[in-house]
Amino acid sequence: MAWSPSSWREFPIKQQPTYPDLDKLAEVEKELSAMPPLVFAAEARALRRSLAEVAEGKGFLLQGGDCAESFAEFSANNIRDTFKVLLQMAVIMTYAGRKPVVKVGRLAGQFAKPRSADTETRDGVELPSYRGDNVNDLEFTAAARVPDPERMLKAYHQSTATLNLVRAFASGGLADLNRVSKWNTGFVTMNPLREQYESIAHEVQQALSFMDVLGINVENTPSLRETTLYTSHEALLLNYEEAMTRQDHLTGKWYDTSGHMLWIGERTRELDGAHVEFFRGLHNPIGMKVGPKADPDNLLRVIEKLDPNNDPGRLTLIVRMGAGLLPERLPGLVKPILAAGRKVVWSCDPMHGNTETAHNNYKTRNFDNIVQEIKEFFEVMEAEGSHAGGIHLEMTGQNVTECTGGAYKVSETELEKRYRTQCDPRLNADQVLELAFSVAELMRET
Ligand code: TRP
Ligand code: MN
Repeated sequence: MAWSPSSWREFPIKQQPTYPDLDKLAEVEKELSAMPPLVFAAEARALRRSLAEVAEGKGFLLQGGDCAESFAEFSANNIRDTFKVLLQMAVIMTYAGRKPVVKVGRLAGQFAKPRSADTETRDGVELPSYRGDNVNDLEFTAAARVPDPERMLKAYHQSTATLNLVRAFASGGLADLNRVSKWNTGFVTMNPLREQYESIAHEVQQALSFMDVLGINVENTPSLRETTLYTSHEALLLNYEEAMTRQDHLTGKWYDTSGHMLWIGERTRELDGAHVEFFRGLHNPIGMKVGPKADPDNLLRVIEKLDPNNDPGRLTLIVRMGAGLLPERLPGLVKPILAAGRKVVWSCDPMHGNTETAHNNYKTRNFDNIVQEIKEFFEVMEAEGSHAGGIHLEMTGQNVTECTGGAYKVSETELEKRYRTQCDPRLNADQVLELAFSVAELMRET
């Protein structure tokens, strides 16, 4: 059947808001369709090529950022700190893990959230669920929870400003490898991880000065001074995504220009659903979340639909199962997918299968479980004759206390100190740094 950016409208759809004012919705969609794209097709193709290398085991995907971006937390400092901490992780993983790292942020568009129920009830009051800042407001009042199409425009503008800053950081000097020791954002002063980081920074600097003697330096070799941070988000709110989808005039192919890479959630990846229909016509690299209950036959059919040419770099499977459960469930998916000759990137989201409720009802995740799931992921992929291709994290450069554990042992009772997430608990800068060292070690061993 013919695909078009709007063909998804003929299919059953999940996880969408019910807009009360459809005229206003149509107006906003029209306005968005006339806006400049956020990213352009050749960039998405470059990311696909990099991911193709990852699929072959010649690189590693680092994808991370907020669970949900928010209008309230929008600031240059937040963006800078997330950027810096991604750079730190990337340099640790590139240097100690000995593989090029493809850096993809969950940012500049990560505003829509799938919810387990359409409504939320508190003290007998039932209101529509919060679905992300591009749909409605988190505040628990009837007015705040009404889906407002204007929010899509605000999300678009915030994404534009975010991406603008990210691009400036990536090519304007902040990512210069000579500044490796200046990317610190950590909060603990006497930090053994800092020392470990400083020692890598020192070695990188030695390598740079050696190359400088040979005549290779930032003046004549831009790759030492620049990096690329690609953008990604869950393409959940299809009104927004359709409006941002454009035909590339060079190739005639369609790209969703709201981000470089888009992923499809575990709850919306139905074979005959609207989301799979929308994604199948895009030429961006795409991701797909895969949970512990996935059925291998069904999954293979979805993969076939999304990646009919078996094109490496096209599809990244983002596995989210939970520590302990992963070794039980993942082999049953990996085996048939490899047997079918599928060349996907296998990435691990160690966050969403490890969510628990702590003291005082805080939604949290334990650092040890997160690291454990990543370890299990590497082991299973190796045992199956493939390789771990990447990790997908909910994280921030801010000093939050949302996940427990780590070297500085955030305890359950400390969660309330700086629990700021709009949605799911994120790793803080110290925790991701510690994680990056563990991942680098796993990368080197396998
Ligand atoms: N351009 C290379 C890359 O992005 C090297 C590089 C420059 C780099 N700055 C960086 C690597 C910062 C990691 C972090 O991989
Ligand atoms: Mn989340």
